[in-house]
Amino acid sequence: MRKLIVSTSNMGKLREIQKYLASLPWQLQLKPKELEIEETGATFMENACLKASLVAKATGEWAIADDSGLMVDALDGAPGLYSARYGKTDKERIERLLRELGETENRKAQFICAVAIARSDGSIALQIEGICHGEITHQERGEGGFGYDPIFYVPTQQQTFAEMKPELKSKLSHRGKAFEKLIPQLRSLAAIG
Ligand code: IMP
Repeated sequence: MRKLIVSTSNMGKLREIQKYLASLPWQLQLKPKELEIEETGATFMENACLKASLVAKATGEWAIADDSGLMVDALDGAPGLYSARYGKTDKERIERLLRELGETENRKAQFICAVAIARSDGSIALQIEGICHGEITHQERGEGGFGYDPIFYVPTQQQTFAEMKPELKSKLSHRGKAFEKLIPQLRSLAAIG
């Protein structure tokens, strides 16, 4: 079975990726802890490619990496690449976003997830993006999920990500959509050997 190194030190992310890729003949493994990668790309995709490529080269194995964040139209795409660094905690990040948006009428936003797969020599074999469109609420709603989930409302479901059952969020989310597109392509790659 071919090995695929997951370019994260986060067990939660490994488990999530494991779930998405469960039907495929790839053995997933966390990247070595000492391998720190700075996210210096100008886009989510550049960061995903950078992480996958560096981990592949360092380990001599195929690698997968993702990068994601929230873009709010009325804030010119912020927090965007800085989604994780917009405040010290999820609570502070949400408070800052709601404060900066104020009573702005245009609440449109999208979550983006870029996923890249690198071959063992660091070259990029696949890159795919998933987008989930929604709106920013005026207050937090729901207890589930993580990050900006309590303020990200999906009109087709009339629920925030934090109000959804995890299976529904996994299907509709930016990450779910990216992996849905990725799986048939990864399956073809595995078949080629
Ligand atoms: P990263 O892809 O782990 O770098 O995530 C970037 C940041 O985007 C996270 O720290 C969260 O703040 C935010 N984010 C990404 N995906 C989600 C999501 O599904 N729900 C809520 N916040 C998210």
